[in-house]
Amino acid sequence: MTVNDNTGGTGDAPKAGERVALGVTGGIAAYKAAEVLRGLQRAGCRVRVAMTVHATKLIAPLTFRALSGEHVVVDDYAPDNPDPIAHITFAQTVDLFLVAPATADIIAKFATGVADDFVSTTYLACDAPVLVAPAMNTTMWEHPATRRNIETLRADGVRIIEPDAGEMACGTIGPGRLSAPERIVAAALEILRGGAARGVRDLAGERILITAGATREEIDPVRFISNRSSGRMGFALAEAARERGAEVTIVAGVTSAPKPPGVRVVEAVSAEAMMRAAATEFQSATVFIGAAAVADYRPAGRSAQKIKKSDAALTLELVRTPDILATVSAARQPGQLVVGFAAESENVIEHARRKLHDKHLDAIVANDITRDGAGFDAETNAVTIITADRAEPVELPLMSKLEAAHKILDEVVRLRGGRAGKSARAK
Ligand code: CTP
Repeated sequence: MTVNDNTGGTGDAPKAGERVALGVTGGIAAYKAAEVLRGLQRAGCRVRVAMTVHATKLIAPLTFRALSGEHVVVDDYAPDNPDPIAHITFAQTVDLFLVAPATADIIAKFATGVADDFVSTTYLACDAPVLVAPAMNTTMWEHPATRRNIETLRADGVRIIEPDAGEMACGTIGPGRLSAPERIVAAALEILRGGAARGVRDLAGERILITAGATREEIDPVRFISNRSSGRMGFALAEAARERGAEVTIVAGVTSAPKPPGVRVVEAVSAEAMMRAAATEFQSATVFIGAAAVADYRPAGRSAQKIKKSDAALTLELVRTPDILATVSAARQPGQLVVGFAAESENVIEHARRKLHDKHLDAIVANDITRDGAGFDAETNAVTIITADRAEPVELPLMSKLEAAHKILDEVVRLRGGRAGKSARAK
């Protein structure tokens, strides 16, 4: 799927007419459900909407009726409801039940099986995959009751799109904001496309080690050198690899994106700590993917005390950090695959090819960080995959990081099948 139109698109889009039931519950973000609906329609889906009574106080059912061209169900006992047992027909004639935004209340109902309104009854009656996009105040999201309910839903097979961190309608800052509509659409299409829902486990048996996020190099107790990486690309790779059956370990630097569930995370803040963790973990890994934005330099020394200012200019002496990817690649054993990233702002392919060659990689994922919607801290990415065994690079359009992750893993599967363990070094 491409998201050039920002809400879903072509490529692996579901076949026309895939049916999505969209449940809208009473959060301030309810208006964003209209954008989700449009994105799904643009990707070829037919969408019907169900709302809770509270949601109708925030956005009128008429909006969804006009956009979807279908009757919007709020109360299946309402006299204008064309279908007398709508919760059954509605729930059992869809390919996906998506709830966006999902309040703490509806999540609690789903977790406990309470079915006292149309949306919660639809959940119980539904045998299609269910995708839930929570949105609520940070304190509510972090409350142990909500955490328990979310874990229960996950255990019941419900897919959760983690909320974003940011400024909330109530003014607080933290996680809880509804994920971006294009991300929700991308996750829905991912399920409809079949990969996750069909349970393709083409990475079963692989132990994938991924570095993610930024490193932080300390200058003194309060200052450091770092970069804008959020960890999102590495986390998307981890999530996709886990879905496809791999055992996943992330060595995480400093990250701001939500960590994916079901994967082991080793924290390593500095480049040197990340190097040590990666070297240890690589011994039992079958695939290494270097997605972290590792500082190339660190201060020559860390001052134990806060550096005091003076009127003179201050010069920081920087020394090189280890190149984790190159070190891991040099230590590889037969059968271990090594994939790197190349963040470039000019001559993207040329520079990436050089890194592929110099670091003896099996594949490198090049991204042009100057392009809109690609690179650091974006929800989407536009990457080109260059492999050691193929002359032509594979250039992919702008897509969600999760989808880009699946494309990268497709290459890992292909390399594994055709050329397991071979590398650029063998060329
Ligand atoms: N990398 C690494 N350790 C470093 C620097 C980079 O493991 N100290 C890895 C990154 O995780 C990425 C790849 O090397 O997979 C390329 O990183 P990038 O920053 O694009 O390039 P560099 O090799 O650092 O070269 P340059 O900064 O000159 O572009």
